[in-house]
Amino acid sequence: MSLSGGLPYHLKALRFKKDFWDSHEAGVASFLDAWNPTAKNLILVGPSGGYSLPTEWLKRFQVIKAVEPDFLARVICETRHHIKPEWFRRKYPFHDPEALALFKDPDAAILFCNLLGQIEIKSTTRLRKTLEHSLRGREWASYHDALSGDAVEFDLEDAPRKRATLAQMKSWIYVKGPRSGPIEVNAHYAPELFQFRDDLNFRYWQWRITSHYTHLIEGVFSERQKIDANQ
Ligand SMILES: C[S@@+](CC[C@H](N)C(=O)[O-])C[C@H]1O[C@@H](n2cnc3c(N)ncnc32)[C@H](O)[C@@H]1O
Repeated sequence: MSLSGGLPYHLKALRFKKDFWDSHEAGVASFLDAWNPTAKNLILVGPSGGYSLPTEWLKRFQVIKAVEPDFLARVICETRHHIKPEWFRRKYPFHDPEALALFKDPDAAILFCNLLGQIEIKSTTRLRKTLEHSLRGREWASYHDALSGDAVEFDLEDAPRKRATLAQMKSWIYVKGPRSGPIEVNAHYAPELFQFRDDLNFRYWQWRITSHYTHLIEGVFSERQKIDANQ
């Protein structure tokens, strides 16, 4: 299990969620409201303990299927939200288009919960093609890491509701406190995955995940109506 999942992640949530995760939870909630899928069922991919998902929003779906290989995460998610998803208990093989048959349920919207950008993949091009193929004609959304760094925050006043370039994202970096040395900010691969369509909707918000470390989160969603109209 990588550092983005498993026990280290649950301990991080236990230690920092109450004091620092508010803006992320608000960002996810407003992103999900903007997406507002019409499907009656939901597929969650990598929800962990559901720490950033609003219970009321989850409850509006009749059936929830969820892919989550971490046992502890599944228990925490059920307890926190009082839901009983139909669990897929192994890591999803994203490199295999045939294995993505789970996503074929036409009555389900699909939500990738800060997972893309964290899993190990063979190539971004391959994953982009797999996603494009599997998500065609579906209501889907993903929120994922775009940038992250130590002792920085992100000034998002001018963030657009359309795709931001890496240069734009870099211009939002706000260095906290006096620093003499260089600042290191990581660029994550996830934003490169969603360059297969021009009509996607974007939102940006920040997740101060610990007292000193902050992520810029990119949310992207596609509406079913828009896809159908284009087909
Ligand atoms: C960083 S956590 C997600 C954060 C979580 N959504 C939240 O808001 O608290 C990533 C999750 O993805 C799960 N995961 C890792 N690889 C996966 C895969 N290939 N398929 C599905 N889930 C996976 C991990 O077990 C972990 O719970």
